[in-house]
Amino acid sequence: METSKSWRVGLLFSTTGVTSIIEQSQLNGALLAIDEINAAGGVRGRPLEPVSYDPGSVVARYGQLAEQLIVEDKIGVIFGCYMSSARKEVLPVVERRNALFFYGTLYEGFEYSPNVIYGGACPNQNSVPLANYLMSTYGKRIFFIGSDYIYPRESNRVMRNVLRQGGGEVLGEEYISLDASEADFAPVVARIMQVQPDAIFSTVVGQGCINFYRAFLAAGGDGRVMPIASLTTNEAEIAAIGARAAVGHITAAPYFRSINSAANRLFLKSYAAKFGRISDVTSCCEAAYTQVHLFAAALEETGEMDTEALHEALLGRSFDAPQGQVKIDPDNNHTYLQSRIATVDQRGEFVIKNKVRRPVKPDPYLVSPAIHDWSLRTQKVVAAGE
Ligand code: ACM
Repeated sequence: METSKSWRVGLLFSTTGVTSIIEQSQLNGALLAIDEINAAGGVRGRPLEPVSYDPGSVVARYGQLAEQLIVEDKIGVIFGCYMSSARKEVLPVVERRNALFFYGTLYEGFEYSPNVIYGGACPNQNSVPLANYLMSTYGKRIFFIGSDYIYPRESNRVMRNVLRQGGGEVLGEEYISLDASEADFAPVVARIMQVQPDAIFSTVVGQGCINFYRAFLAAGGDGRVMPIASLTTNEAEIAAIGARAAVGHITAAPYFRSINSAANRLFLKSYAAKFGRISDVTSCCEAAYTQVHLFAAALEETGEMDTEALHEALLGRSFDAPQGQVKIDPDNNHTYLQSRIATVDQRGEFVIKNKVRRPVKPDPYLVSPAIHDWSLRTQKVVAAGE
């Protein structure tokens, strides 16, 4: 589809609005990978050229801008989206136009599209290990709180099933709007304090996530006593929340900035050289970075931006990512990923506590009985930052 000497790719990440804090980190990850690929000579001697639009965290805009990228800009490969509601807007567009869409965010699962490569964790790669960890470390009485859209509601449905398989109990389930202020969280936090769960499972995203942790601290909440466990509270949110409100809380993700490996040190060095900081390096940033590299390697093989040819070249392809080795599963277009659990220390840094031994095969429809799957059990991490 490209018309110039460069390979043009579309980027749809919001740099304004409620999820901009995390989407900016995804955009940076994608741009960094593009820079690295171009610095190494491009793909078949031609550079990648990003064409980037800001959907402003407005769900309908993602679909409109995907259409614009494909039809007006004549770009058939798009990286983008954080919220599942935004992905659901892009999905019919890329399917109708037969474009290729890379989605690098953890999500609720129960989806497959031949036009999408899924690079974030699905529930068997994060929720199941987290459920095991919470129940064995803190207890079985869990309270759910989420932003009010598809990912939190579906993710909680899955988490409820998983917890109940393991004898857990859901003490409450509350949803709050995406633009909720710290004051808006006060009534839910008061209820949590009254119920006194062993842990809270939060699917609150974006700016709301920051406001929630602050409201929890303001009500006397302490993560070292009653942790908030999340899949979406990344380093960028923790930096905004502040160490005092974040200490003790838990996140499950394939990647943490604190991973102590040569590949991660190289990634952080490269990120710092381009952006002058590493404070907003997150698992979603790393996934976007990784997906661009996987795409470029596939394009090197095909030499053309044809959706079917690229799709074929992507299936089964692996990459030595900052998190460790990842691989696109030819069974379902999702990605084998690492699975780690970390808590926030007093400096506001994630300390990796547990890890699943091997990369976890994605099971987006949770076909395997989840909680009893021994391969999803995490083990204590001995070496710091493993
Ligand atoms: C999400 O909405 N998939 C975080």
